[in-house]
Amino acid sequence: MAKLSCIPSLLLFIFLVSLNVNISSAKTSYNVLTYGARPNGKTDSTQAFLHAWTAACGSTDPTMIYIPKGRYLLGSVAFKGGHCKSPDITIRIDGTLIAPEDYRILGRARNWLSFEGVSGVSIVGGALDAKGSPLWDCKSKGSNCPAGATTLSFVNSNNIKIKGLLSLNSQMFHIVINGCQNVQVQGVRVIAAGDSPNTDGIHVQLSTDVVIMDSSIKTGDDCISIGPGTKNLWIERVGCGPGHGISIGSLAKTTDERGVQNVTVKNTVFSGTTNGFRIKSWARHSNGFVKAIRFSGATMINVQNPIIIDQNYCPHNLNCPNQVSGIQISDVMYQGIRGTSATPVAIKFDCSFKYPCKGIRLQNVNLTYLKKEARSTCTNAIGKTYGQVLPDNCL
Ligand SMILES: *[C@@H]1O[C@H](CO)[C@@H](O)[C@H](O)[C@H]1NC(C)=O
Ligand SMILES: *[C@@H]1O[C@H](CO)[C@@H](O)[C@H](O)[C@H]1NC(C)=O
Repeated sequence: MAKLSCIPSLLLFIFLVSLNVNISSAKTSYNVLTYGARPNGKTDSTQAFLHAWTAACGSTDPTMIYIPKGRYLLGSVAFKGGHCKSPDITIRIDGTLIAPEDYRILGRARNWLSFEGVSGVSIVGGALDAKGSPLWDCKSKGSNCPAGATTLSFVNSNNIKIKGLLSLNSQMFHIVINGCQNVQVQGVRVIAAGDSPNTDGIHVQLSTDVVIMDSSIKTGDDCISIGPGTKNLWIERVGCGPGHGISIGSLAKTTDERGVQNVTVKNTVFSGTTNGFRIKSWARHSNGFVKAIRFSGATMINVQNPIIIDQNYCPHNLNCPNQVSGIQISDVMYQGIRGTSATPVAIKFDCSFKYPCKGIRLQNVNLTYLKKEARSTCTNAIGKTYGQVLPDNCL
């Protein structure tokens, strides 16, 4: 008997040993609980997370920081890459990270979770609950409120992945990619109230080779906002709404500004949003530009401005001499876009009189308003249509 039962347990032992070897040769794991984090939603785990980061960072191997199930209270944390040796740090989150109850604590900090100067960092899974709604309430009453914090930001970083993350009720922007190369955002969900102020879903600027795929964004400002210096951005299979759509801009914030080029947006669904595809610039001088943009394959459901270029942005008419934008917009393609507009004007190109939009192309577009054909309006826009384009083009 003893002999018989010995064999399977020996096999099991060999199996476990080989499994263990596999795991440890792949990644050294650092569990935040070991560093004093408490999954009770009450104990401040900020220092524990920082210690786990320092340990993972200091290893010369690929490492993993593991955050088990549970709720972790975190204040503002900056994960810095300066002294990192590890070429590859995976932050695996099975739990929820929650912000302090008092919105003023993060509100004055600009950032909640920020990564600066890191390389090869992946965030996999998890939920970030920034508890932004008391700050939105404060702002709606207009009473001396702090600006609010971005939930998750990567600054001056390379080779970044964000996969399967949920960002809930950010105070300000949910996810910011600023000054980065090679970033993949996949399977991310963003949720905030449709009337929450400045809660952009994903903001990209001064960054190259960024991919955003298979994500769902419901928020109070732009689902995706694309700022100056964005190059080679690929967006595919993204749902947006409520929200302000996918926007390039606002550009021409400053006179000296990097351009936006080579942006592809494929297979998106907008539902009940204020905009679909928007390009927006201040009506003032700038050396910036927008070129080589492809908007292809989109369903619009009850969208106020499905296709819009607005180069006359100037709230309160301040600092817009002659009300003219210096941003040159060229080579913008809209292809395979159908659905419904919530206003009579479904296509609006309102371009700069000094630098008219050029190379605007519309192909196979069908946008209706109240079951009838919608309208299009063009100012200073030059381009062509291909195939069937409804509403009739004004280019
Ligand atoms: C444009 O960006 C895509 C990735 O989004 C890249 O594959 C392609 O090579 C880029 N095109 C140019 C001309 O740089
Ligand atoms: C445009 O879309 C409407 C509503 O979906 C549809 O009834 C109409 O046939 C379409 N027109 C063309 C030319 O495809």
